[in-house]
Amino acid sequence: MTDRSTRLPPLLLVGGGHMGSAMLSSWREYGMAPSVLIDPSPTTDALAGADLLVVRDAGQIPAGFTPDAIIVAVKPQTASDALMPLRRFAGSSVFVSIMAGRTIAWLRATLGDTAAVVRAMPNTPAAIRAGISVACVGPHVSLSAKNLAQLLLSAIGHVEFVVDETLLNPVTAISGGGPAYVFLLAELLERAGIEQGLCPNLARTLARQTIIGAAKLLESTSEDAASLRRAVTSPAGTTERALAILMADSGWPRTISDAIAAATLRSFELGS
Ligand SMILES: NC(=O)c1ccc[n+]([C@@H]2O[C@H](COP(=O)([O-])OP(=O)(O)OC[C@H]3O[C@@H](n4cnc5c(N)ncnc54)[C@H](OP(=O)(O)O)[C@@H]3O)[C@@H](O)[C@H]2O)c1
Repeated sequence: MTDRSTRLPPLLLVGGGHMGSAMLSSWREYGMAPSVLIDPSPTTDALAGADLLVVRDAGQIPAGFTPDAIIVAVKPQTASDALMPLRRFAGSSVFVSIMAGRTIAWLRATLGDTAAVVRAMPNTPAAIRAGISVACVGPHVSLSAKNLAQLLLSAIGHVEFVVDETLLNPVTAISGGGPAYVFLLAELLERAGIEQGLCPNLARTLARQTIIGAAKLLESTSEDAASLRRAVTSPAGTTERALAILMADSGWPRTISDAIAAATLRSFELGS
């Protein structure tokens, strides 16, 4: 029988903020060998436990601790400071970076040419093993290092790989930030319900449960989203009236296309 505590090898997580802590929660649930988190923020002390030592900087990593994988979950802007002290692990650990924009070439230039780098873009449903990650494997990454990266990402949800790294820019725009768009929809539906006279509690329950139910329906069928939409849309009915506004040229088709293009461009900018 598999020992749950050793299903994942020792990890070094760099950055325990929103995304780092989301992944950590699933890795712990999955079973993680004693690992280390580096984060300067004292709020991350709350993450410490039998399976996790929390330290403020790389100088406090216990002597002799050699992680199998180093997961880089800091903001792209602080990446250089976070990575320079970790160059000594370049020969022994695979680096899995989830930073928006920072390219494999940039990571290898920072860590040294021998560094094995996998770049991935997860999202926050990773916290409940319902994430989606897309990964791109850098040069000189061994099969076992790639397999470990895949294991880490599959422990937080679904995983896809791409060969063309530039595709991680639109991936970042769609699935990396995507949960925010869905949460915005929940906020706006709730607000609109209140405007139409619903009490705040009922408006909130309707907005949330509608999104949860629609997501589960999507998950349960191979039908495409458009046909599920049509099944809700009776001719001359209420949904048709709403969709006439949402699907107008100036409505969601244009807005969402523009929003994703802007986020994709921002991902390119972060990498330059
Ligand atoms: N949030 C998402 O939904 C999401 C999705 C996919 C990918 N990502 C990527 O994940 C990365 C982290 O995003 P986030 O939203 O989790 O950011 P965040 O909440 O700000 O977390 C970053 C953490 O790193 C800490 N940190 C700063 N400098 C550090 C250093 N030198 N060494 C170790 N830790 C350091 C920060 O501490 P302080 O607060 O004290 O600075 C903070 O706790 C970003 O590169 C982002 O592109 C995020």
